[in-house]
Amino acid sequence: MGRPQPVRSRRNPYKDHAVPKPSVLVAEELSPAGLALLEGDFEVRHTNGADRSQLLPALADADALIVRSATQVDAEALAAAPKLKVVARAGVGLDNVDVDASTKAGVLVVNAPTSNIISAAEQAINLLLACARNTAPAHNALVNGEWKRSKYTGVELYDKTVGIVGLGRIGALVAQRLSAFGTRIISYDPFVQPARAAQIGVEMVSLDNLLRRSDFITIHLPKNKDTVGLIGDDALAKVKPSVRVINAARGGILDEDALYRALKDGRVAGAGIDVWAKEPCTDSPLFEFENVVVAPHLGASTHEAQEKAGTQVARSVKLALSGEFVPDAVNVQGGAVAEDIKPGLPLTEKLGRIFTALAGGVASRIDVEVRGEIATHDVKVLELAALKGVFGDVVEEAVTFVNAPLLAKERGVEVNLVTSEDSGDWRNLITVHGVLPDGQKVSVSGTLSGPRHAEKLVEINGYSMEIPLSEHMAFFSYEDRPGIVGTVGALLGEARINIAGMQVSRDEEGGKALITLTVDSAIPDTTLGAISTEIRSETTRQVDLD
Ligand code: 3PG
Repeated sequence: MGRPQPVRSRRNPYKDHAVPKPSVLVAEELSPAGLALLEGDFEVRHTNGADRSQLLPALADADALIVRSATQVDAEALAAAPKLKVVARAGVGLDNVDVDASTKAGVLVVNAPTSNIISAAEQAINLLLACARNTAPAHNALVNGEWKRSKYTGVELYDKTVGIVGLGRIGALVAQRLSAFGTRIISYDPFVQPARAAQIGVEMVSLDNLLRRSDFITIHLPKNKDTVGLIGDDALAKVKPSVRVINAARGGILDEDALYRALKDGRVAGAGIDVWAKEPCTDSPLFEFENVVVAPHLGASTHEAQEKAGTQVARSVKLALSGEFVPDAVNVQGGAVAEDIKPGLPLTEKLGRIFTALAGGVASRIDVEVRGEIATHDVKVLELAALKGVFGDVVEEAVTFVNAPLLAKERGVEVNLVTSEDSGDWRNLITVHGVLPDGQKVSVSGTLSGPRHAEKLVEINGYSMEIPLSEHMAFFSYEDRPGIVGTVGALLGEARINIAGMQVSRDEEGGKALITLTVDSAIPDTTLGAISTEIRSETTRQVDLD
């Protein structure tokens, strides 16, 4: 006879008004609109993320951290933040966030992927024009009382060749805008198909070809090990001496020392630099050149971009801290979640928790089966939800959509996602099947029914049923014989536990049977034990699904 194993889920602390509001640590400037979205629901604290001596202690009780590019969210910062659930980057670039370490720690990473791309593209064009027309030195000369017209004669963009290094979202916006100037636009990007580029009037070329042909070069790549120093001494040895080079992407992709040498030797005609290998940068050899226009990383610093970034990440933080799926998450497998899938997430997580309660341990293999119309979507996230439920009550650390697959991998659990459009009697059917290390099989199926997506349990270990899922559930398997329902009811009555629903399922008369109960409050272990003994239960399980 199986020993009663009450399985208690972690309570959601945010439902309990006695506990303080979750804390959101804002480590860099965030727009007032973003802050306003957070202030009612959370305790919003501010710190200077660039100063480690302020950041690390402030992380101790942070549930969420919001940064821009000046805060290094590395393993040390994550270790200082034991309660952290989400890191939100109010912007695009994530090179200051250790995404792998965050994933390991179960911390969701989100950014605001489109918030500042227009501003960044406009800043590149701003620097390009300023460079072409000597705007900065002419301004400085004039405010110093010098009226120098011929010294600051510039060049037109018209009929020139602009080389865009990196034709992602920002590079493409730059191309579209520059085409109005009557420029020829060429681009180097190994990940872009020439046919797609041709649609926006861009000719894809090799990096060498771009370097040799361009009158202007503008960089729009992410910073990573392949792109750091990409435009260095070798590349700058190939350019025309009339070229002007713009970097409003990430510091270090354009090697500042190599650029200095090229400018000094007259191998480059000018540069526009918004981003620096080391930021903040208040002193650089490049400052000595009149033909270099510089800015302190202002690409995203517009009211519009900051408002979009602030409100987008504030919404993501709200979703993340209420345990919901976050569409802008970058470290959750499966990507965007279709609207039809979302109601299935909590159901599948609960099925995973019931699975673990019934299994009484960790399975060696888990198949998550998704059937019905919903299977026409990408349902990878339902596999994650099932794993989140499966591991939620067996590991100490918080289980999230982020680290659930890692936990399965670490425990050697083989996980498969199976989909089929055929769902038999149900419109949709989600099943968590598993094989335990001793070969025993466990399965739990549920469905969403009606316009309100009511969550129902419809199968356990081959027994059919139809019972709404509720907060407190219990399961007893036993040999079918008269008197069992009465015994269970009487013992629960003695313990003043109210039964909300009960379903008896069996394979055949006198065969194996299963009682599935929903009750209004948790059953004490003593009562669970007494029922188990009285009915000679083979398996007795309780699960709290709050
Ligand atoms: C980005 O990656 O989003 C931009 O470089 C902007 O960075 P910032 O938010 O620090 O200005």
